[in-house]
Amino acid sequence: MLIHMQKINHGRDENDATAYAQQAHQHTNTESQQQNDDYHSDGLPSAQRLDDSNVAVLFSSLPPLAATRVEQAVTLENARIFLFARNLLYLLVFVTSALWTAGGSVPARNTVSPKNANPLIPARPGSIIKRSATELMPIDRKPEFFKGAQLKVGIIGCGYVGLPLALRFAEAGHKVTGFDVDPHKVSMLNAGKSYIEHIPQNKIQQFVNSRHFSATNDFAKLKEVDAILICVPTPLDERREPDLSYVEQTAISIYPHLQKGQLVVLESTTYPGTTEELVLPILEKSGLRCAIAAGPENENMACDFYLAFSPEREDPGNKQFGLAQIPKVVGGLNPPSGRAALALYTQVVARVVPVSSTRAAEMAKLLENIFRCVNIALVNELKQLSLRMNIDIWEVIDAAATKPFGFMPFYPGPGLGGHCIPVDPYYLSWKAREYDFATRFIELAGEVNTAMPYHVVDAVAKALNDHKKSMKGSKILVLGVAYKKDVDDLRESPTLKIMQLLQQRGAHLDYNDPYFPKLHKMRHYNYENMKSVPLNPQTLGSYDAVIIATDHTSYDYAAIADAAKLVIDTRNATRRVVRHREKIVLC
Ligand SMILES: NC(=O)c1ccc[n+]([C@@H]2O[C@H](COP(=O)([O-])OP(=O)(O)OC[C@H]3O[C@@H](n4cnc5c(N)ncnc54)[C@H](O)[C@@H]3O)[C@@H](O)[C@H]2O)c1
Repeated sequence: MLIHMQKINHGRDENDATAYAQQAHQHTNTESQQQNDDYHSDGLPSAQRLDDSNVAVLFSSLPPLAATRVEQAVTLENARIFLFARNLLYLLVFVTSALWTAGGSVPARNTVSPKNANPLIPARPGSIIKRSATELMPIDRKPEFFKGAQLKVGIIGCGYVGLPLALRFAEAGHKVTGFDVDPHKVSMLNAGKSYIEHIPQNKIQQFVNSRHFSATNDFAKLKEVDAILICVPTPLDERREPDLSYVEQTAISIYPHLQKGQLVVLESTTYPGTTEELVLPILEKSGLRCAIAAGPENENMACDFYLAFSPEREDPGNKQFGLAQIPKVVGGLNPPSGRAALALYTQVVARVVPVSSTRAAEMAKLLENIFRCVNIALVNELKQLSLRMNIDIWEVIDAAATKPFGFMPFYPGPGLGGHCIPVDPYYLSWKAREYDFATRFIELAGEVNTAMPYHVVDAVAKALNDHKKSMKGSKILVLGVAYKKDVDDLRESPTLKIMQLLQQRGAHLDYNDPYFPKLHKMRHYNYENMKSVPLNPQTLGSYDAVIIATDHTSYDYAAIADAAKLVIDTRNATRRVVRHREKIVLC
């Protein structure tokens, strides 16, 4: 609607209001009038942050400065008459223009294919909606609104992905609300505390204090934000099939509060089609529409809200590439949605890479992770062959990596871990079945990688045997339960499987991990009563074997080799250790 009643809170945030007034003024001087009009009519942030106290009702289609002056000129006595008359005038203009663009008939808002008209029936590939390129967008907030304005951003799921993203938006000056179903996390965040090792407490505290960040489990507050970013888990279920219940539940939490002109972006890793087939129909239960469309003729098509997919590339603990440096891929459900997401992320990352659809963006993330999964499987297999051939695979990889083109090193280990690589490829395998397609590389890589913990346990049994010991009854210490070094993340860690297999074969087990003082019950494992044992020469020397499962930087590997009777090294963490090489078994 061109006529759109909005409230401007003149006294709400003086700094913001001044900044936007200056911005608007500079804009008039430097940009074309058309762009300037767009800028104002998009609705400046101060025109959209609502606060019930001290508000004046204005028409957002006026530039805020002009609107403010008009509002000041209107006396209390004639204000109602003036606003009513102007309202009528704008309504007349809107109806006339709508009739004109529709060739004489009022267009159905956001016309969609009959299939897509029912919000419960998922859209299918190829359901591209053809629209007139000249059709007006029936909302005030154009995609470009998300660029250059201070935004209210809602992030759903404050975990390893959502929390850093929230802090990055806060750092860029936006007002961020983290939504999470875990009340413990919500209260920790509001107290300025961190529950993720590599996210410093003072960073959260700083943004909580400056009121750029807060957390809540009240989803009604989604109404207040401009953009909603979904960062909830996408695990596999018991049958290793995609478990999209978190995404589905999140969409169900959003739709009753969905507002016109809001941008919703799914960031959770998933199979191509999820945004269109699962998220969109649920959001459209709100009565608002966002059609699937592509191509230049749909550049300015109508949509009530924007919907996009942008995969997260967060690498927890990576000190070289932080969120701001990692390019972000975005794909919109339609061109305006793509532009809105592009505009949003341009504010917080160095480079945004637009693709033509949500499905392409979803597939891009899976390609990245499948590429990793398959290559890790390749080196894991070559490691086993190399061990048999008495060749040091790590030396081989380092030598091959000197080739300046066409080779990228991947390193073997005790198996795949983390929330992504062991999980994501199966999202695609599952979806591929719908198309009568077998993803053989994924299956083969899965087979090799899943066998790695068994390979480690066989290597431990052989090493103990060489020391005239049986696995049954032996005392074994496992170093590192996190799935990779220097992180406090246990998810899908191969160490958990290795521990289970060792216990099944009768070993007495302890572990040490500086990031996990104790363990707990998990979906597949129960290590409820285990506590990290302290590391000192006496304890190390008391075990029949010490397994280096995760190569945390804080471990002193030379001291470990000095004190232990036998070291099984699954990561080549002892590569620089020169003493007692005879005690070290690489596997
Ligand atoms: N962890 C990574 O390194 C990484 C990297 C790239 C992509 N991803 C993807 O990002 C997504 C999120 O992963 P993560 O590692 O941040 O997960 P996480 O488990 O660390 O965090 C998810 C958060 O969502 C919350 N949550 C669950 N259901 C919710 C709901 N209905 N409403 C609100 N909050 C809810 C949980 O309480 C939790 O705090 C996944 O799809 C994952 O595959 C993760």
